[in-house]
Amino acid sequence: MRIGVLTSGGDAPGMNATIRAVVRAGIANGDTVFGIYDGYRGLIEGKIQEFTRKDVSEILNKGGTILGTARLPEFKYEQVRTLAIRQLQKNDIEALICIGGDGTYTGALRLHEMGIKTIGIPGTIDNDIASSDFTIGFSTALNTACDAIDKLRDTSSSHQRCSIIEVMGRHCGDLALYSGICCGAEYIITNDTGFNKDELLANLKANRLAGRRHAIVVISENITDVHQLAKEVEIYSGYECRATILGYIQRGGTPTPEDRLLAARLGKYAVDLLHEGITGVAVGVIKNELHYTPIDKALAMTNEPNVELHKLIEKIS
Ligand code: F6P
Repeated sequence: MRIGVLTSGGDAPGMNATIRAVVRAGIANGDTVFGIYDGYRGLIEGKIQEFTRKDVSEILNKGGTILGTARLPEFKYEQVRTLAIRQLQKNDIEALICIGGDGTYTGALRLHEMGIKTIGIPGTIDNDIASSDFTIGFSTALNTACDAIDKLRDTSSSHQRCSIIEVMGRHCGDLALYSGICCGAEYIITNDTGFNKDELLANLKANRLAGRRHAIVVISENITDVHQLAKEVEIYSGYECRATILGYIQRGGTPTPEDRLLAARLGKYAVDLLHEGITGVAVGVIKNELHYTPIDKALAMTNEPNVELHKLIEKIS
């Protein structure tokens, strides 16, 4: 087969390991594999290059994506996708493996509807693709967030402060939930927990009065203005308070072994599925087993809150 591979949307650690797995599994099968630069934007611009095994050596442990990535909202227009299809036809590429999040999946679905064989691989730090228990990049971002929160705890404790730490995840609370648990945060606020400001302020005040030296609040992005919240905590709780937005640091860095392993498994699986004639699907792991789901279904699935972890934080935060 002649297979293209691209990365699209926000970059995630482990994307390179995924590209490597796709290229190497394809070549081992006798396929010709093409790297497509800069996501769907690069595809319509014809930024396409045949990859050898050597082209993907020394990238397994590197963050970012050697292919580059982009967001292309215009890909929703059929005329734009037609340009993409022309480039694929020009290079005789019959199948496309698209690594990214839900925007990437939507692009892959539309191309599939237009007759291109596509497979989606979940590559995003947000862990917000419900057709896979974990996405490539989540483990590394979680490690980065935990490292930062541990450091913030040191200074919070020394100064007897409250620290509010905003982590990424777009609308998914997993990075906040997991990092909050792993770092012993006193409060974890996500779309799933809900945000009751009055309750938080009252609890922090009670903690302060009870003599607790510091408090860690981990909160998902897109919930509230954390700097404003820090001011209110200072006024109402008795704690000095500082807010830290971890930001893009969570998207970079050397992928963890978990992300590399997931990348290797899903990259090879995607190539295998193409050879079995299965396309228009998103691959993932469910209960640590490889699974595929039609992309339209994958996009319609919602991330259910993790009941066990939510019960756990009620007891031990
Ligand atoms: O999807 C990954 C992510 O980092 C989200 O966590 C965040 O909301 C978003 O991308 C930021 O997007 P951009 O890179 O376009 O600013």
